[in-house]
Amino acid sequence: MSRLVGLMVGRENTFPQPFIDLVNQQGKTDGIAAELASLGGNGELEAPPYAVIVDRISHEVPYYRAFLKSAALLGTAVINDPFWWEADEKFFECTLARKLGVAVPRTLVLPNKDYIPDIDRERSLRNLKYPLDWERLVAYVGLPAVLKPNTGGGWKDVYLVRSMEDLLSAYDGTGQKTMILQEFIDWQDYVRCICVGRRHVLPIRYDPRLPFHERYQIHRPVEGQLRDQAIRDAQTLTEALGYDMDTVEFAVRDGTLYAIDFLNPAPDFDNFSIKEDNFRWVLTRMCDLVLSYARGEAVPPWRGEQRWWRYVRP
Ligand SMILES: Nc1ncnc2c1ncn2[C@@H]1O[C@H](COP(=O)(O)OP(=O)(O)OP(=O)(O)O)[C@@H](O)[C@H]1O
Ligand SMILES: [Mg+2]
Repeated sequence: MSRLVGLMVGRENTFPQPFIDLVNQQGKTDGIAAELASLGGNGELEAPPYAVIVDRISHEVPYYRAFLKSAALLGTAVINDPFWWEADEKFFECTLARKLGVAVPRTLVLPNKDYIPDIDRERSLRNLKYPLDWERLVAYVGLPAVLKPNTGGGWKDVYLVRSMEDLLSAYDGTGQKTMILQEFIDWQDYVRCICVGRRHVLPIRYDPRLPFHERYQIHRPVEGQLRDQAIRDAQTLTEALGYDMDTVEFAVRDGTLYAIDFLNPAPDFDNFSIKEDNFRWVLTRMCDLVLSYARGEAVPPWRGEQRWWRYVRP
């Protein structure tokens, strides 16, 4: 059985090599090695040489996603689940959080502003109420509100809208993107948790108003009840979602932790943003995780969960 760990990455440059080095060092006695995964066209029954793949980029490279789904079927422990990652969306996650008892801002999903040319409003969209009752929608979430994509990252197309006019003009620019409209949490405190293996949670104070490289506030540790609650809620969410690698963000208002964004299955691991001690924590936890999968001591949370698993033997 393969004992090779493959890493798939995009432009990031600080995490990959130290991670590969650490896995090679810690896995050596068990014959486990790590490398940057190398792909280039795959046959459907061509089992990949990797026992484990850490995927940090398939959301932007569809060929990787296609490869990973088949690799998962053929026995590779893929981090994170390529099937669920593709299906997951922020609106769904808000419903899930509510059902799990984790606080989230009041949230609505909106019909798209624009459609592909083949869609004709009169004939193709007979299930849609039109025009939208914006007054009712805004009454639910209040103002100001946040208008943001149902899937996405990097703060792209995230708008803070202060009035109905603001909202309509932002919405008019959203094109074919599916957007959610969310109660704005006017927070007094903010915590971002790095989550590895659905159990290990590192809460870090985070100031989203600052430039990217200054956001992690390591000189103000998260302590006491706030820390405990952040850890509990982040564990609840990542366990239910099955993400072995994620960040979960909370805005804290009047002592309540509101989960703002927990759809980050390829989270920022750069040492210059999360800072050195947190970077070491991530390296260690990620290394332990892949070693446990490579040794066969643990299996990925998603294995066996899709319907088709019952018809195949990995
Ligand atoms: N409901 C909300 N209330 C208050 N602030 C919010 C809310 N939604 C989003 N924000 C702010 O906007 C930022 C970006 O939103 P969000 O994290 O959902 O987008 P993203 O594109 O996934 O960002 P990232 O790349 O950091 O994961 C958050 O870090 C937070 O500061
Ligand atoms: Mg995000």
